[in-house]
Amino acid sequence: MTTTDIDPYHHLHDENFADAYARGRVGATAMVTMAGRAATSLDGAWTFVLDLYDEGLRQRWFADQVAPVETWAAPRDYDGGGWQTITTPSSWNMVRPEWFYFEGGAWYGRTLQLDPIVAGEHVLVRIGAANYEARVFLNGRFVGSHRGGSTPFFIDITAAARAGENWLLIQVDNRRRSDRVPMHHTDWFNYGGLYREISLVRLPAVFIRDFAVMLAPGTDGQRVRAEVSLSAPLDAEAVVSIAGLGGPWRIAVKGGKGTLEFDARPELWSPDAPKLYDVSLSCTGDTVRDRIGFRTLAVRGEHILLNGQDLLLRGICVHEDDVDHGKVSSDDDIRRRFAHAKALGCNFMRLAHYPHHERAAEIADEVGMLLWEEIPVYWAIEFANADTYADAENQLHELIRRDRNRASVIIWGVGNENADTDARLSFMGRLADAAKKADPSRLVSAACLINRETFAIQDRLTEHLDIIGINEYFGWYEPDFEGLRRLLKNSRPGKPVIITETGADAVAGSRGSDTTFFTEDKQAAVYREQLSILATADYVRGICPWILYDFRTERRQAALQQGWNRKGLLAADKTTRKLAFDVLADHYRRLADTEH
Ligand code: GCU
Repeated sequence: MTTTDIDPYHHLHDENFADAYARGRVGATAMVTMAGRAATSLDGAWTFVLDLYDEGLRQRWFADQVAPVETWAAPRDYDGGGWQTITTPSSWNMVRPEWFYFEGGAWYGRTLQLDPIVAGEHVLVRIGAANYEARVFLNGRFVGSHRGGSTPFFIDITAAARAGENWLLIQVDNRRRSDRVPMHHTDWFNYGGLYREISLVRLPAVFIRDFAVMLAPGTDGQRVRAEVSLSAPLDAEAVVSIAGLGGPWRIAVKGGKGTLEFDARPELWSPDAPKLYDVSLSCTGDTVRDRIGFRTLAVRGEHILLNGQDLLLRGICVHEDDVDHGKVSSDDDIRRRFAHAKALGCNFMRLAHYPHHERAAEIADEVGMLLWEEIPVYWAIEFANADTYADAENQLHELIRRDRNRASVIIWGVGNENADTDARLSFMGRLADAAKKADPSRLVSAACLINRETFAIQDRLTEHLDIIGINEYFGWYEPDFEGLRRLLKNSRPGKPVIITETGADAVAGSRGSDTTFFTEDKQAAVYREQLSILATADYVRGICPWILYDFRTERRQAALQQGWNRKGLLAADKTTRKLAFDVLADHYRRLADTEH
């Protein structure tokens, strides 16, 4: 084709430009376990430009190698973006004031030095999370995409990679859309960007893609089950070792998959005694290592059992939100959340409303904290949209694959505050069943709303759930506490119930009458009344008040809110405690004392 054949204006008239990037979307099946693996960090300075009109996808900015203007054959609207840089991981909203409310596409670029690629080797880029959709380009080629703003994904760059210098571009689009998960209406801030770690992973021709080691369900802690799946359908032998438990044990692998159950009596993991074992698993020359806790979980009637003992959950909810860093979580942030939860007397945390950083479950394993992890099937999702369901289920499988060896994770939550419609029942019933099938070792729940017609805990979805989550705000959105007494009296759920949200707003430092909204006195009064009434329902086996810290949300614009949800027991500075903090801590201390 000669230059006169190219229509330089074609991209102005093609509104189907996104179709070119519809293929190559990766999901849970492309994930690779990172347990104990070496990886090269790709974090640090990247070039960065905003692209609100998706000009880069329209004009294929990725196709032209970065070059000095003197060498250009035609004018360009993109030159690699080196005039601006951003450091990953970050939420772009927090980097410059003019980017704070930006919702659209943006381009990250960097060079990538690679050693020669060995025959059969796999070279992958692992992205810890990109909110919401990411498209990846290497050396001018589109190499894959991902949807879902809070789960890790792997892009295989082997075919486009070369020894020496490569050019890596990642386009991230954080637009809120009705067909996404979550959809365009949420009560948390829509941070954008590459906000968790990015790394380069080099793997042998055949590698361990996934593995799980747990107490075999239904064996009361006497037998361990090990599962392994390889990247290829080979017959082989895997060897699993658990320091201090005997072994090693040999697993026959057929067609790339193997399972073995064997006698072992591990010391059981619990929040009070978070015992972890060093586990290693080798096969076809690849080895993965993890620190794994063993515990049993069950539901019996309206009770939850951990290691065969009745469990009462003393919880608190928490978002990933920071006044300075947005949705980025460091180990220090995570350890501070758990320290504040422990100071409250918690043994349980609801990581709302999306998969948190993988380090949260790893650190919870170490410090002893039970976790509810969930996918953002939040409010009015497009429940009749098949693509939306595929997105939600993929996020669920990515979460399960990422955290299935974490003893601290006891509940998969498949949604939050969704109206009980036929389409929602089908969508979330399928998700709950998918979670049970993918991971029979854990419990499945959802944060449901009360049934307004019967004024009871009654939701058709509960047929698919092991535990019923209920969000209720008597004393706040519904000021009359009599409603809570009536609800509890009307209900006979037949399964354990966790109050997955309750609470009230308070501006830190605002003191006054305990009937005046947004005072600390009113928040504390709501907590006292809630805790007292909830204690009367023996089927309520846990409470998880909303929320540990104040957090950003665009939809709250009263002068006392100014873009923040003030229901935190601590202010956004994550230091200033409110009166209600001690009300909850005193309550949990009394509960814990009755257990010992
Ligand atoms: C809802 C919702 C939360 C929200 C909270 C509130 O229950 O699940 O995401 O922040 O109520 O109104 O503060």
